[in-house]
Amino acid sequence: MAEMTDPRVIVALDFSEAAQALALVEYLDPAQCRLKVGKELFTRSGPVLVEALQEKGFEIFLDLKFHDIPNTVAKACKAAADLGVWMVNVHAMGGRKMMEAAREAVASTPHRPRLIAVTVLTSMGDADLAEIGLQGSPEDNVRRLAGLAESAGLDGVVCSPREVDMLRNTIDRNFQLVTPGVRPVGAALNDQTRVATPADAIRAGSSYLVIGRPITQADDPRVALKAINEGILPLLSH
Ligand code: C5P
Repeated sequence: MAEMTDPRVIVALDFSEAAQALALVEYLDPAQCRLKVGKELFTRSGPVLVEALQEKGFEIFLDLKFHDIPNTVAKACKAAADLGVWMVNVHAMGGRKMMEAAREAVASTPHRPRLIAVTVLTSMGDADLAEIGLQGSPEDNVRRLAGLAESAGLDGVVCSPREVDMLRNTIDRNFQLVTPGVRPVGAALNDQTRVATPADAIRAGSSYLVIGRPITQADDPRVALKAINEGILPLLSH
């Protein structure tokens, strides 16, 4: 397989224990993927685990979705930058001031992480949004919040593969779209309902694919990752 300079797959380490995550990454190559550490694993195993993964050569997306007053979020993002992570995220619903404070906090760090926003949680439908006083469909809110994140100087947003087309029409081409809900052809859907294949997501304009169980629960995670990379490599312009 051709050399990947910028691996597009981010493997979601949705484990409860560090030992499980460390066992899985023995099968993975940092040249072929990045890793996502989320709330459960981080709350249990913390920065020590992130450092251990980084020492193995992996770049880390720290998926903690910060949402608080600007000063607090800025300091949390600075702490993530000091930890050396590659990507960190905040909730766009924290507003412009919060996102700008986060951006400024990481701007001058030696290894500035990419700072992206969550727009609308995909678990929320029309009724959920109405209940918290948000008008319009989830798509309307995604579009508006992605625009806000872009104008606050963030690097991108997390979005579903279904939203990529819409966002690529309204935001700058360099704005990064990070998409979960990706399933290779024939893979189990698990609890994902609206999925896209890796190739379709990249073709539509996804920058990075967050993929968990199709890799972490595969008989051979290395083979599963290789097959995904082989499917998308011809579509990438390096
Ligand atoms: O195992 P699977 O590929 O479904 O994992 C997807 C990962 O992306 C999980 O860590 C999940 O929490 C995350 N995610 C998602 N849908 C969103 C946002 C994040 O599946 N809208």
